[in-house]
Order: sequence, then C-alpha cells, then structure tokens
Amino acid sequence: MERLQKVIAQSGITSRRKAEELITEGKVKVNGTVVRELGTKVTGRDRIEVNGVQIEREHPVYFLMYKPSGVITAVSDDKGRKVVTDYFQEIVEERIFPVGRLDYDTSGALIMTNDGTFANELMHPKYKVDKTYIAKIKGIPEREAMKKLERGIMLEDGKTAPARVKFLSGDKKKQTAIIELTIHEGRNRQVRRMLEAIGHPVLKLKRERYAFLDVKGLNPGEFRELTPHEVKQLRNQAVTQPSKKRGHN
Ligand code: URA
Repeated sequence: MERLQKVIAQSGITSRRKAEELITEGKVKVNGTVVRELGTKVTGRDRIEVNGVQIEREHPVYFLMYKPSGVITAVSDDKGRKVVTDYFQEIVEERIFPVGRLDYDTSGALIMTNDGTFANELMHPKYKVDKTYIAKIKGIPEREAMKKLERGIMLEDGKTAPARVKFLSGDKKKQTAIIELTIHEGRNRQVRRMLEAIGHPVLKLKRERYAFLDVKGLNPGEFRELTPHEVKQLRNQAVTQPSKKRGHN
C-alpha cells in the first residue's frame, strides 16, 4: 500500500505537493470515487484518475539479483559508495528498489522491484518468508550451540524465532566451519548477531535462497527478471503464511 499523493507524483504528472492539493480539491478519484483524504493508501491494482484522466502507473517489474559483497543495499549513497541499483543501468523507465536489505558485506539473493505493494507484502513481519544463509564462521560449533540457534537466541531486541540449522563442513586446522541457517525474520544483522551470540562470529555470509529462489546461474552483480509465475508464487507465499501469533494459522 502506498500513499495516493506519492503514487500520483510517481506517475510523473506533478509534484507530491501539487498532488496533495489536487486530492484536497476533490480532483482525484480512486476506483471511480472522489477521495479527499491525504492519508489514503492505494495498491498497484487501484485505478486512479486525476481531473478525469486515468494516470499511467509504472509497469511493475521484478528482478532477482545476485548482490555482490561490498555493495550497499540502497538506491543511492551520500558517500558515493556502490549501491545495488548501479547494476541496473539498463533499467531506465522504472524506479526500482531493493526488497529488504543485505549488509554491505553480505552477498546473495536480493529481490528488486518498483512495486511497493509487493515489497511491503514480502517484508511484513506478519508473513514468514524463509531466507536461507550460508555462513562461514569462526570455530567449530558444538551440537549444543547449533541447538541454541534452532530454539531461538536472546538478542538485545528480543528472542529470535526458531531457525533451521545444518552443519555443512568444518576445518579443524583453520578452526572454521560452514553452516546453513534458515530464518524467516528480517532483523538488522540478524544472522551475524545470532552467530556472535553463540561465540562463532561470521567470517563470510551469503544469502543462498530467498523463499524458493536461488542465484544459481547468476554471477555476483548479475540479475534476471522473475517469471510471472515466480512473482505469483512469492505473493502467495507472503499472504498464505501468516504468523501463528496473530491466530491466522
Ligand atoms: N543477516 C545478517 O546478519 N546480515 C544480512 O545481510 C542478512 C541477514
């Protein structure tokens, strides 16, 4: 859901301030009804008319990117560092942005779109979209440490939801291990903080899968368009996996 004035401004016909004026003057209709409320939220599926003319919404686009490490998950950076949209120079018509974020040093699967409703659905904490990470960690974790991750770890912003954890390999000589961790929350630096909390700081982190999507066939910095079926599946996944806490299960 996005604010009506923002959607009007994004269509390119006027500024956001002017769009607000048009709304309060009663010149904007949503699905055939005049709307004067500035707080009104609309989805990509609502029909919006300004002065009786339907606005052209941006054509929604959806991409899966293999984010390289050393890149900021943002559309711009005031310090001039590389950002994920730098890899999308050929996409000029649509204003795309990342869905959620990966840390500067994290690589892997990242969804990019210009569809705010879709992005909000996927990121809403009420829905559980699985994200699978491969972490190279310091030390070789004991069985009990892995169990702790599975049960949930107390972090400064609360206990993490249960995770799925797999031990992939260990290097006794180098004292490092590779583990796979699947979580559905998306807190800031969550995987790094969880592993730090059990005494095995992350040396390298990659998001191997976002829901059912992986970056196989892509090199770091490359992206591909999602198929309409994949977009539908992601949408379904977001809306059919509500949190147990809210009693929708
Ligand atoms: N967890 C992290 O710690 N970092 C990421 O980039 C993603 C999840």
